[in-house]
Amino acid sequence: MAPIGKDGRLVAGLLERLGIPCHVAASVAKACGMIREGAGAAIISEEALVGEPMRQLLQVLQQQPSWSDFPLILLTVSGRVTVESERLREMRRPLGNLFLLERPIRPETLLSTLEIALRGRKRQYQIRDQMQQYARAQEALLRSEKLAVTGRLAASIAHEINNPLEAVTNLLFLLRGNASPEQQRKYLAQAEQELARVAEITKQTLRFYREPSQPTATKIVTVLDSVLMLFGPRLAAAGIAVEREERAPSATVLSSPGELRQIIANLIGNAIDAMRTGGHLRIRISQFGKLVRLTIADTGMGIPKDVLPTIFEPFVTTKGETGTGLGLWVTAEIIKRNGWKIRVRSCSNPGHGGTTFSILIPAL
Ligand SMILES: Nc1ncnc2c1ncn2[C@@H]1O[C@H](COP(=O)(O)OP(=O)(O)OP(=O)(O)O)[C@@H](O)[C@H]1O
Ligand SMILES: [Mg+2]
Repeated sequence: MAPIGKDGRLVAGLLERLGIPCHVAASVAKACGMIREGAGAAIISEEALVGEPMRQLLQVLQQQPSWSDFPLILLTVSGRVTVESERLREMRRPLGNLFLLERPIRPETLLSTLEIALRGRKRQYQIRDQMQQYARAQEALLRSEKLAVTGRLAASIAHEINNPLEAVTNLLFLLRGNASPEQQRKYLAQAEQELARVAEITKQTLRFYREPSQPTATKIVTVLDSVLMLFGPRLAAAGIAVEREERAPSATVLSSPGELRQIIANLIGNAIDAMRTGGHLRIRISQFGKLVRLTIADTGMGIPKDVLPTIFEPFVTTKGETGTGLGLWVTAEIIKRNGWKIRVRSCSNPGHGGTTFSILIPAL
């Protein structure tokens, strides 16, 4: 791109003779188009970059993806250091990956500079490919974890339904025997209760699967209720007292309910795991202006200091065979994707250990 004089034609002729594919751009706008389409490098004469053309070029360079640092070879005007040359130097600074060649240029100098520029550009493309590969692998991992979460959810639902069904089977067996009419009424009432619980569980599950994946206005309390219902038997079995403090009971946020549920279920699941011998699970929903905060605190064993900085990384677990170490990683991914925040505080001193997770979500 050298519209004035014969530099453009000369350079193009030289490159063509050497079999290096090149295009001559008649204007900076054209050159910018070629950069966008994937040119390997640009050779531009400095006098073409005054004013608006400079702005156009800077805009193209600013829009580069993070892996890209487009190489520019600038053909400068030779001369002494003057006020004008100083001003040019300042202007060139934001152009980034810049090679300066003073005219008159020797062909060997141009060629070796161009080779370095193109080799650097090739490296950038390799980095881009590696980044894409990494992103794809991560996506695949997230997908497989979603499946695993769904599988675990299915298993926990089957487990929850199995308890009341066993109870009903036993009650029916008792009804077959020679129970008094009063006892029969009692058994029937109990069976009805157990079946109501099954109905509740299936209703919750169906709601979960029919949920739109698009974010919608979601009440935090509703999601919390349904998670606590599913975890109810496990909480009771571990001797964990649930204390709820609803300072903002109608707090509503924009979320797909499935995602919010996954986060809450992961945090409560971890809290239960940390309180094998009982304890307190404190859950608080509060709102400060435009921010909703959900706090889930346990009085469990706490997170060891050396584990704490890594808990949001995949495959970090202290649970051996029973943990995959993906729960908090998935949680953090969902939170990052939605632009929410998560905080953790933990103390693992024996006697007064405990962990507190807070999630901050913009209120609707
Ligand atoms: N409330 C908590 N109390 C104590 N330790 C915790 C708590 N929450 C997380 N941790 C620690 O962080 C680790 C990572 O948690 P994460 O949920 O990612 O994986 P996990 O629970 O081990 O396995 P899973 O994939 O089944 O959830 C846990 O193994 C545990 O050591
Ligand atoms: Mg977990």
